[in-house]
Amino acid sequence: MRTMVTGAAGFIGSNLVDRLLADGFQVVGYDNFSTGQRSFLNDALASSKFELVEADLLDEVSLGEAMREVEFVWHLAANADVRFGIEQPCRDLEQNTIATSNVLEAMRQNNVRNIAFSSTGSVYGESSVIPTPEDCPMPVQTSLYGASKLACEGLISAYCEGFGMRGWIFRFVSILGERYTHGHIFDFYRELLDDSSTLHILGNGRQRKSYLYVQDCLDAMFQAVQVAPDAVNLLNLGTDEYVEVNQSVDIITAHLGVTPERTYAGGERGWIGDNPFIFLDCKRMRSLGWQPQYSIREGILKTLKWLEQNHWVLENRQ
Ligand SMILES: NC(=O)c1ccc[n+]([C@@H]2O[C@H](COP(=O)([O-])OP(=O)(O)OC[C@H]3O[C@@H](n4cnc5c(N)ncnc54)[C@H](O)[C@@H]3O)[C@@H](O)[C@H]2O)c1
Repeated sequence: MRTMVTGAAGFIGSNLVDRLLADGFQVVGYDNFSTGQRSFLNDALASSKFELVEADLLDEVSLGEAMREVEFVWHLAANADVRFGIEQPCRDLEQNTIATSNVLEAMRQNNVRNIAFSSTGSVYGESSVIPTPEDCPMPVQTSLYGASKLACEGLISAYCEGFGMRGWIFRFVSILGERYTHGHIFDFYRELLDDSSTLHILGNGRQRKSYLYVQDCLDAMFQAVQVAPDAVNLLNLGTDEYVEVNQSVDIITAHLGVTPERTYAGGERGWIGDNPFIFLDCKRMRSLGWQPQYSIREGILKTLKWLEQNHWVLENRQ
């Protein structure tokens, strides 16, 4: 089967590409390399089953051409960083919502019927229900990133209803693992390499967050697209645990053998739109026969190990 992965050169997308190729799929990787890394595709580029299209999702002509004869789209390309929405208010709208609209329209025009989409737990804003299930009360949005992803979910659902497509919408917690290039483990690790005597933490360090290891995330998505029964399947993906930011700092500093003085920006939130408590109810995904194999601690350690072996990535990212 010919599949397309948008965001193929990204952290999660490149891991997905490798898994799809290992499973025998033909893969069209689509990426504009805005945050993606060419070296993440080294193995894929050596495969005759992989084709790379270096283009932007806002380029509808390239997208339409790349979509020909595709049967399944894994749409992961996005502005994946929740933090800077208010500094660039149009970015999430363009890179997430309009880009997703373009993907759906190219699918419709090419008669492609299946889409799996990487949404986010950020769509829950600051939910009043914790652990947060997929059918919690309609959440108030607190970030432009979350709002743009919720709009993507709406578009996908409407295309499924209107044009007989099927959709799998995955609301991820933060993902950890090999090729991780953004997020607080990355930031803390880089800061500690520069100076292990101090560490500045956004917020009060008491924010509670949940994380999932990238291969567990991929296992869940593969399982869901095989067995989830509905035209539109909305699924939380996370672990049954959470840690405080301070606890993840404990894991990182113990691993590195450093004892920095911690300073705090203060307040319950690290930035505007930061949710101080993210913990998703993942019973729906578990009922489909999936469970994560790795704990948050193991995910953090695997991430650190990969960063230690790939220092080049620390310089490449702003
Ligand atoms: N990493 C996480 O913790 C996390 C959590 C929740 C949801 N997600 C979602 O998962 C997906 C993948 O995230 P990631 O962490 O791998 O991010 P990433 O930044 O590593 O990957 C995104 C990829 O998309 C590409 N891209 C961005 N805009 C594009 C465009 N307009 N046209 C073509 N390519 C474009 C980038 O170059 C990059 O390779 C995103 O949709 C993100 O919102 C990630």
